[in-house]
Amino acid sequence: MSKPVSKHICIIGHGAIGLLWGHHFTAAGHRVTFMSRRQQLPPSKQCFTSYDGIESVNEFTFSHQLPHHCDFVLVTTKAYQVFDAISPFLAKITAPIILLHNGMGAVEALPLATYQQVMLATTTHGALINEDSLNHTGLGNTIIGNYQGLTDRELEHWQQLLGSALPTVEVHHNIQLPLLLKLAINCVINPLTAIHQCKNGELLSSEFDNQIDKLIHEVQQVISKLEPDWPHSEASLKQAILDVASATANNYSSMAQDVKYGRTTEIAYINGYLLKQADKLHIPLRETKKLIINLSEVDKY
Ligand code: PAF
Repeated sequence: MSKPVSKHICIIGHGAIGLLWGHHFTAAGHRVTFMSRRQQLPPSKQCFTSYDGIESVNEFTFSHQLPHHCDFVLVTTKAYQVFDAISPFLAKITAPIILLHNGMGAVEALPLATYQQVMLATTTHGALINEDSLNHTGLGNTIIGNYQGLTDRELEHWQQLLGSALPTVEVHHNIQLPLLLKLAINCVINPLTAIHQCKNGELLSSEFDNQIDKLIHEVQQVISKLEPDWPHSEASLKQAILDVASATANNYSSMAQDVKYGRTTEIAYINGYLLKQADKLHIPLRETKKLIINLSEVDKY
């Protein structure tokens, strides 16, 4: 197969997932500029340990400015950072934008122009920043879909480009479905592991069963009303959540880590998003509210 033509990719957000894509794009022959809001920009040479344990060093441009030309913009900040990270530059972005983060609701707040092409994405790849190296800790799948302005052909083009750098990549014709499934998983695993400061796998113990069932009931009530094509029952949703907890049994969820290190959590865009939708539908969510109060994040959304 012929090598894809080299692209210039702008990545906003140089956390673990942004760097993971950056390393893979560079290895696939593309040029990567990371936009950073850090006063002191990170060093251009960045170390990477692949999933197979192969170490390499890749060279990136870190900049405070949007590059003059780029082929697409990948946004990998936390959900609550999306607005501040992208809105100052939004009017200048003519290339397609891909938003890739946990939680939902960030894109709706962006002042997008009608001509702008925007994709939403979700990934199950795992990556961890370990001292000064990025480790690819779990192989996964990325799903992309249209938010506004892209035809099916264009989506397939981006799927091909992303997938040739970091496989596997799928296109979903209703991206809300995979995003809502990820939201449902995060609504259960993230706050419970954050409150109990435990690994994802510890949620498989029977002591959490009752609370997990109550949370799934709430999640299911809301999502099945939001999305007419939602394919899950409470039982299949529980299975999907327990499958993720078991596949990532030895990991601490992103929210458990945020709480541990005193960082802002994404709860406003995960359980908070669910609660906002439930309020609009007049569905009371007692368990979800308790979790939010427990994490003392109630007034952050
Ligand atoms: O937020 C996370 O950590 C991940 O989305 C998940 C699926 C809970 C696995 O750890």
